[in-house]
Amino acid sequence: MAVNSNAPLTARQVMQDASVIPVIVLHDLAHAVPMARALVAGGIRMLEVTLRSPQALACIEAIAKEVPDAVVGAGTVRSAADAAAAAKAGARFAVSPGYTRAVGQACRDQGLSLLPGVATGSEIMMAQEDGYTELKFFPAMQAGGPAMLKAWSGPFFDVKFCPTGGVTPGNALDFLSLPNVACVGGSWLVPAEALAQGDWARIETLAREASQLAR
Ligand code: 3PG
Repeated sequence: MAVNSNAPLTARQVMQDASVIPVIVLHDLAHAVPMARALVAGGIRMLEVTLRSPQALACIEAIAKEVPDAVVGAGTVRSAADAAAAAKAGARFAVSPGYTRAVGQACRDQGLSLLPGVATGSEIMMAQEDGYTELKFFPAMQAGGPAMLKAWSGPFFDVKFCPTGGVTPGNALDFLSLPNVACVGGSWLVPAEALAQGDWARIETLAREASQLAR
């Protein structure tokens, strides 16, 4: 898949690239590039850097400029301003913990594909009304886990989900084996202590193990 050009990505491309989208929290700009290289070396190139620290946008910018084999996106996008800042920093996609029309419109205006977060049937219907068929199920374990996705596969047969929140190597296959799950999201690939120690080999190993999870 030609995702390394600057052509706009689709949400489907974002979700289909690997079994796991790493949910990343960075507090140190110096960690961004070696971490992204480690994830790419382990077979994971769609990287969600969350807007949860003052350094997040600079980290996105550094990865976009210096790690051409990665495709960096912004997570925790909660406002139109977040979407604009993420696009300016070089993000290619956005992930939001919930969905509002303002965030959807801002992402379209910025050329960012969006995985909107949903946790209820009404939220799915709202996102579908605006044309979204690839959705993040958040917080997945807390909101009903695999059983919830099985229940949704009836009425929402035309939606694919990326469950995120409480997903671990121990339960990822319970999600990935479901026909309405395209991939999962999780923070376990980039542990805070591995970042603090500069343990890029550990992050590469975690990425390799995650990329080998069968869908
Ligand atoms: C988040 O937004 O923090 C993600 O859902 C990650 O959740 P996790 O830490 O449970 O993987």
